[in-house]
Amino acid sequence: MPNVFTTRRIPEIGPNKLREQPGWDVQQWNSDDVIPRDRLLQSIKGCDAVLTLLTERVDAEFLDAAGPQLKVVANLAVGFDNFDVPELTRRGVIGTNTPDVLTDTTADLAFALLIATARMLPQAQKYVKEGKWKTWEPLGFRGQDVHHATLGLVGLGRIGGAMARRGAGFEMKVIYYDAYRRRDLEEQYGYEYRDSVETVLREADFVSLHTPLTAETRHLMNAERLRIMKPTAILINTSRGPVVDMQALYDALKNGTIWAAGLDVTDPEPLPADHPLLTLDNCLVVPHIASASIKTRDDMSELAADNIIAVLNGRAPKTPVNREVVEQKGLR
Ligand code: DGY
Repeated sequence: MPNVFTTRRIPEIGPNKLREQPGWDVQQWNSDDVIPRDRLLQSIKGCDAVLTLLTERVDAEFLDAAGPQLKVVANLAVGFDNFDVPELTRRGVIGTNTPDVLTDTTADLAFALLIATARMLPQAQKYVKEGKWKTWEPLGFRGQDVHHATLGLVGLGRIGGAMARRGAGFEMKVIYYDAYRRRDLEEQYGYEYRDSVETVLREADFVSLHTPLTAETRHLMNAERLRIMKPTAILINTSRGPVVDMQALYDALKNGTIWAAGLDVTDPEPLPADHPLLTLDNCLVVPHIASASIKTRDDMSELAADNIIAVLNGRAPKTPVNREVVEQKGLR
């Protein structure tokens, strides 16, 4: 009888599908808080599958605690920097993520951050709420134009591509750097490739980060690179917090090296309420909500569950992160 553990309360659609599988024992950490590590390690003992969140490190310790019965770990996220993929692969455990279903919802939020920071929406709302709105002010809240500005994308994968389409809709010029050049998209939509991150930073009015967190991208946006950006430029991060050096960003925003930043992700997460960045009016921070629409979170929950159901029924999961293990096992 397969044992499955889910590490948090998530939209019911996924857990319900797991519970409907005949004879499965489906357990869950039924809380909105992160499961303490020791409870996690205890709870996954003997499991065939674990449905994880980005808050759970899936590493050798996790895999040891689960034991040899473990066949699949399904992450409720497209990003899987919390997975030690080589270790999963070495042990023949399939890892899965939730790409595609969240692409547009995440890009919507990235674009919302872009407009909100450009047009100073948080500052303006605070002003109204504080009763400071006395008249129409020719000099008040003069932000940056979005339309016809240059949108610089670091990463033109699924979400970067969706961001590019949104930019094009606002008649922005879209430039990008990606290790994989997308000539097809350049031809189809007129996006322009730049051969380095630095060139993008130099030219862009808005820089949006769409890169996974790896050893190479950690602190990609450091003091030196922030200095390359225009003083009127805005940085948007919906990727992973550590892609930006937060101290360097604080300095850049405080000193006027760049104009503003909109962050869905931070380092650390959660960002403590007394963090210096939160003292700055030109930094908009939201709590990692880019994929948080009702439908998308349902879709993520369902996809994660479907991946588990596939593997435990001897079929290939829809969205593996280590396809070689799926192939080794001959799953189709
Ligand atoms: C992801 O999917 O990686 C996000 O950060 C959470 O939706």
